[in-house]
Amino acid sequence: MSAFYREAVPTLAPYNAGLGAEEIRRLHAPPRIAKLGSNENPYGPHADVRAAIAEAASIAQYPDPNCRDLREAIARDLGIDPGRLVFGNGSEDILGFASRCFLNAADEVVLSSPTFSVYRDNAVVMGARVVDVPRRQDLSLDAAATIAALTPRTKLLFLCNPNNPTGNPIPAAEFAAICAAAPPGCAIMVDEAYYEYARGDGYPESIPLLDGLGRTCLVLRTFSKAFGLAGLRIGYAIASDASVARHLDLVRTAFNVNRLAQVAALAAWRQRGAVKDVVDATRAERVRVARALAALGHAPVESRANFLFLDTRRPAAAISQALLRQGVIVKPWGGAFATWIRVTTGSPEDNDQFLAAFARALRDVGVATA
Ligand SMILES: Cc1ncc(COP(=O)(O)O)c(C=O)c1O
Repeated sequence: MSAFYREAVPTLAPYNAGLGAEEIRRLHAPPRIAKLGSNENPYGPHADVRAAIAEAASIAQYPDPNCRDLREAIARDLGIDPGRLVFGNGSEDILGFASRCFLNAADEVVLSSPTFSVYRDNAVVMGARVVDVPRRQDLSLDAAATIAALTPRTKLLFLCNPNNPTGNPIPAAEFAAICAAAPPGCAIMVDEAYYEYARGDGYPESIPLLDGLGRTCLVLRTFSKAFGLAGLRIGYAIASDASVARHLDLVRTAFNVNRLAQVAALAAWRQRGAVKDVVDATRAERVRVARALAALGHAPVESRANFLFLDTRRPAAAISQALLRQGVIVKPWGGAFATWIRVTTGSPEDNDQFLAAFARALRDVGVATA
């Protein structure tokens, strides 16, 4: 049977998309659900987005394959050539077609686990060799080890900043040193899904920095997180130049971004000043939850995103089940991090529910041995 598939396909693990609220309601019927497993924005999009969707033109027609209105708005505000922008059905769509665009079998891809699993899966499907750089003890990216892993065969270097699931950022000086060390044949993939939460205070502004270095690169951003549009699926990437964007467009499907997503993203972008309120509320809550977790003896990794990663010192799957029974959805990790969970920073009510449920789960679930 497996002869039908590309050789790598049967070796892939299914993507852990997390449980939905409906499933938890059906299984445990909790009085309230705190959905903290997928790093969504509990405050939702700006009010203008709903109005824009309601007024959207005919859905009987295909969407604009070039996302022209949105492209022009983003390019104008970022001060870049509109031809450098690439749009996707979520930024993970762009990660998929970028792998198809760049990777030949036996190319090397450098990443640093634990990180967003899609990078590895895409590389494996294309037959590329994954070079996984160990992180430091505190789970920060090891800049020197990353630089040492780069070779003339490195085709893609993934820098997830801040990193999912650990949440920690790559400081500006280290980010610059790594990018400067990338060999000419290596495209730098900077995944900034959590950019709006992380920016400022020592976080590298990657676009001017990479423009200055003249490297081939792609900076990926999304409307799924701080803009609150995860359910509509739209993300974008800023390519180092229009030629890179044109090559990516050759391997993307023309109508990958639907009409409603384009209209909603444009309305959200026009109101992007309001994202500051979401970011400020999330940051304050993240600090509060991190302190409460530290007081329970489970201090999380330093995070600049809308989630926290922590060692429960118990089997993560059992902790996750104990939380689910109390209506709290988190994401349990596996492999070398089988006692770790990632929890999204939700609304104050969500976070209170999580903290109370977590304290109880710690009492109910035995400490992992070995
Ligand atoms: C680091 C990172 N990159 C990319 C994505 C994909 O986001 P989307 O496809 O919703 O734009 C996510 C989603 O969780 C993420 O955490």
